[in-house]
Amino acid sequence: MSTGLQFDPAMSKGIEAQYRRPQMVRRRARALVLADPRIGQDVLDVGCGPGYLTADLAAGVTDSGSVLGIDQSDSMLALAGARCEGLPQVRLEKGDATSLPLADASMDLALSTQVLEYVADVDVALSEMGRVLRPGGRCVLLATDWRSVAWYSSDEERMTRMLSAWEEHLAHPTLPRTLAARLSAQGFRVDAVERYSVLETSGDVADYASMMIMAIASFAPGRRGVTKEEAAAWADEQGRLRAEGGFHFSVGQYFFTATRSQALAPPSR
Ligand SMILES: C[S@@+](CC[C@H](N)C(=O)[O-])C[C@H]1O[C@@H](n2cnc3c(N)ncnc32)[C@H](O)[C@@H]1O
Repeated sequence: MSTGLQFDPAMSKGIEAQYRRPQMVRRRARALVLADPRIGQDVLDVGCGPGYLTADLAAGVTDSGSVLGIDQSDSMLALAGARCEGLPQVRLEKGDATSLPLADASMDLALSTQVLEYVADVDVALSEMGRVLRPGGRCVLLATDWRSVAWYSSDEERMTRMLSAWEEHLAHPTLPRTLAARLSAQGFRVDAVERYSVLETSGDVADYASMMIMAIASFAPGRRGVTKEEAAAWADEQGRLRAEGGFHFSVGQYFFTATRSQALAPPSR
């Protein structure tokens, strides 16, 4: 089960456009280095979204391997389908991270980038990943810590309220803080944790921060006491700061690389 944000056609298109930008291309390249897909491997992309990483993974395993992209959103799957057309090793299926349509110990590698924070039953999703990975199989996860945001506003109180309302767009706003312990509890050995910083300071109105400003301004009203007027004033100030050169936004995202141990922990259902 997921909460908050709807990955409907408009949101899916917006995310697809954003993920073409250099900042996100760099982040994806890092995910790929950490995943290190090998020719012939069977790979799972949980919450594949618009399918950029799915297609990159397919290039890594070649057509002697396989990549299965799972997502619960029809519009995301449609975008991923178009992107992965002509890649016979890719299969896309509608499904939920907490109930993977795969046999036990059938995959070599599992990725899930910017997905698990939306999944209320995150431990079940991790347990599912452990179940479908072969012993020694690896996973690469990426999640945002929304309380690591540094974002300038002349009205800090309003900024705090806006960011607090925005936390409702997902189930686990600070997931990276508990992810290592959660992975260990599900029988993974955590191999590495690293931080990726998203930093935007320019007035480029097509960057990641611009998507955030639009998304937060439309999501926040009615939550945690934020009014429509307050959200509009907040967005206006950010627009002004961008135009005047005083804009600063950054947030920490965390990669976790882990290996499924030989013996599985009992499932957490
Ligand atoms: C922010 S997008 C990330 C997409 C992709 N992983 C990437 O990094 O390019 C989050 C995706 O997770 C999917 N998602 C959220 N909860 C899910 C769940 N419980 N099971 C499967 N997919 C889920 C959404 O539909 C959406 O496509």
